[in-house]
Amino acid sequence: MAEICMVLTASTMEENRVILERNLPFVDMVELRTDLLNESEYPYVPSFPAHSSVPVVLTCRKECDGGRWTGREKERLDLLDRWLDGGFGFIDLEMDIDARSLVEKARSVHTGIIRSFHDFKGVPENLDDMMTRFEGDIAKGAVYPRSSGDLYRLVRTALNLKKTGQAPYILLGMGDFGFPTRILAEKLGSYLTFCSDSGAPSGAPGHCTAGDLNGLYRFRKIGEKTVINGIIGNPVSQSRSPHLHNGWYEEEGLDAVYVPFLTDSPAWFLKTAELLGINGVSVTVPFKSDIIPLVDKTDKAVDAIGASNTVYRDSSGQWAATNTDAFGLIKPLLDLLGSDDLKGRKAAVIGAGGAARAAVFALQDKGAQVAVFNRTKTRADELAQLFGCASFGLGPEFTDDLKAYSSIIVQTGSAGMPPLEDVDPVSFYEFDGSEVVYDIIYKPEVTRMMARAKAAGCPVLGGFKMLEEQAKLQFEIFQEGRSG
Ligand code: ATR
Repeated sequence: MAEICMVLTASTMEENRVILERNLPFVDMVELRTDLLNESEYPYVPSFPAHSSVPVVLTCRKECDGGRWTGREKERLDLLDRWLDGGFGFIDLEMDIDARSLVEKARSVHTGIIRSFHDFKGVPENLDDMMTRFEGDIAKGAVYPRSSGDLYRLVRTALNLKKTGQAPYILLGMGDFGFPTRILAEKLGSYLTFCSDSGAPSGAPGHCTAGDLNGLYRFRKIGEKTVINGIIGNPVSQSRSPHLHNGWYEEEGLDAVYVPFLTDSPAWFLKTAELLGINGVSVTVPFKSDIIPLVDKTDKAVDAIGASNTVYRDSSGQWAATNTDAFGLIKPLLDLLGSDDLKGRKAAVIGAGGAARAAVFALQDKGAQVAVFNRTKTRADELAQLFGCASFGLGPEFTDDLKAYSSIIVQTGSAGMPPLEDVDPVSFYEFDGSEVVYDIIYKPEVTRMMARAKAAGCPVLGGFKMLEEQAKLQFEIFQEGRSG
């Protein structure tokens, strides 16, 4: 089982001790970054392991390797030599230094040896070679994937090392592209993953906090059989989906983890997915259309909407694409109306982008007669033509047309969300309380348009439920896809 190692980054030993105490339930070991300590703290370094109930890694990182040590190399090595008497669990020695005497000393005091290298520019071409250079010691590579292709190469190297099953190794990706490797350390055969305390400076770019690793990502429950799902997009770090999906896995006791994969190429991501045996992913901006030609099959919703937000392996192992946005959008509306369909209703869709497309599909699918209203009328016309419905512009001259389709008004555009939170796209229209008004924006919870409709007595819906429903359906699909 991969261990969790917290990097202690405080400038005093006392602060480090407090951080360690606070995180003891979450960590298996700690790394004492002596290069970040005030020099006046040096005398207290050797006694640290004796007061720590978990093994301590002794590290003094040079500036060129991402640390803060700028002194002379001889002085650094002398300090490490002296500190080794403190009974550290491990010492981190860079691969590119002549460390013969330190290695000897470490062996004599039974301190494990980590031989490390850091690449802040990317993933080196000779990664496999670097990771097998020091037989008998723990090789550590901290590299910085800058693309989905880089992540693929990193994962490939890790899995090759895992297959050979030789000496333990630590191989982790920094930054947002590398973030999944921190959560999936066990899958990658890495001896440990590093994390930071939420209140202290981060130990490296892209570190997870100990709290998130243990809570949100359930790191300790990830094993050989754990199903990997996730989200691909750019950006993904702000996504709520990991909280929703991982929360459901925990609630239902499922052996699965949901990971954010920052992606710049869905094709490279799918190659990584093959290597790791990833089961399913949510697809978000800007890949909802780009993913379609890369999968083995699509369903009716994807074909009609021209976008997929859900890709999963079906029971035959093929990549299948579907779209749960439409279902997510319609479900809260049907719940509000207490009905199974929208037959006999006339519905107005405001906006003509990707979200509008999903809305028109979903509303028509349930039997509503739909019209598209958009500021740029030509875009409304194009969308309407695809679905064989009516189209109008958005302005006072279209008030009567909107009235005619006002049984349900679904707002799908960006007017109402930051930075346009003060914009009401139908400000020209007076609600009379008979309209069901649905704005799929979820931040803010109540948009200008919703507030006005509410004041007029209309039943009003915001976008949060849609977000939850589309995710819930994904959650079900990711499970059903596997069971067939
Ligand atoms: P998405 O694919 O996420 O739906 P999009 O394609 O950028 O996003 O569409 C944004 C929608 O918001 C468009 O319908 C846009 O209208 P235009 O086609 O006329 O640009 C609409 N929108 C953006 N700002 C608006 C505003 N101030 N008033 C009304 N509609 C607005």
